Amino acid sequence: MKVLVVGGAGYIGSHCVRQLQAAGHQPVVLDNLVFGHRQAVAEDVPFYDCDLGDSSAVGQILEKESIELVMHFAAFAYVGESVTDPRKYYNNNFVATLRLLEAMLDHGVHKFVFSSTCATYGEPATLPLTETMSQAPINPYGQTKLDVENCLKTFAQAYGMSFAAFRYFNASGAAEDGTIGEDHKPETHLIPLVIDAATGRRENIKIFGTDYPTPDGTCLRDYVHVDDLSRAHIAVFEKLEEPGAAYFYNLGTGRPSSVREIIHAVEAVTGLSVPVIEADRRPGDPPALYADSSKACSELGWEIQYMDVQDIIATAWNWHKKHPEGYLS
Ligand code: UFG
Repeated sequence: MKVLVVGGAGYIGSHCVRQLQAAGHQPVVLDNLVFGHRQAVAEDVPFYDCDLGDSSAVGQILEKESIELVMHFAAFAYVGESVTDPRKYYNNNFVATLRLLEAMLDHGVHKFVFSSTCATYGEPATLPLTETMSQAPINPYGQTKLDVENCLKTFAQAYGMSFAAFRYFNASGAAEDGTIGEDHKPETHLIPLVIDAATGRRENIKIFGTDYPTPDGTCLRDYVHVDDLSRAHIAVFEKLEEPGAAYFYNLGTGRPSSVREIIHAVEAVTGLSVPVIEADRRPGDPPALYADSSKACSELGWEIQYMDVQDIIATAWNWHKKHPEGYLS
């Protein structure tokens, strides 16, 4: 399959490009390099430095490369920033996505794989989360993702577009060979920050809240390996052959880890100790989020290779040792 990977130079997109190649598909990358890294994409992969909202340029690429399916990873994903600057999020995550979808329709490309998020569920009443539970996002980031999901449902019905929306839990880890990995600027995610605290690149890690109603008082999250996420995107291809198909899948391991457990796991993997400061809660953090991914497992044959969070952290640590300054190293 000839696949346009929008945001293919970013964290999850670049791993998916690798997995597409490994599975014998032909990825083509489109990325405006606002957050992506050119070095994250191999030289032999066609690369377009282009904005996803530029329908005319995207249309030309769809034609020139004979694209059959589009995967879309190119969202802004800083939850806090989405609260203080929602316009930026609606513009990039919703309006630009709409332009991308229009370019697809105008050029006869009808298969779409969308990166959604567990943030569309807001603060769930029960856990683990299944796909049918109510979606009530508590920040504009989650809202923009839900808005795209809803838009896609109507496009499937009206235009026969077929799509899968994957609701990621906490994407983590790096390629097994340590050549590509997580490099966000600024970094806000727990695992890379704890690794930085272990190596002394940061003075410490602040635990945001120790009084949550969880076993050790810190938040529970479902850390899922980025290559496991990527493989689900490929496993869904067959289902998208049917016009108007609309699928939603949670992607997580279903095994939550607390913030303290992540810190201890980083200490175990690295052999280094992590200086910790107990801080106030971060606004907008639900106490616990973890997935029931049985639908993806049964319908897609999705097999999670990294069930143990220490194995996930080991790949992040391998990437970090090889690239202490990220892609600038
Ligand atoms: N945390 C800390 N200290 C830090 C950073 C994080 O204690 O310095 C805690 C957070 O409070 C949270 C957990 O570590 O409890 C994980 O935080 P991350 O920022 O790594 O991840 P989130 O769970 O907040 O966010 C992830 C994705 C988002 C997505 C969100 C859905 O990164 O894109 O899940 O809730 F929107």
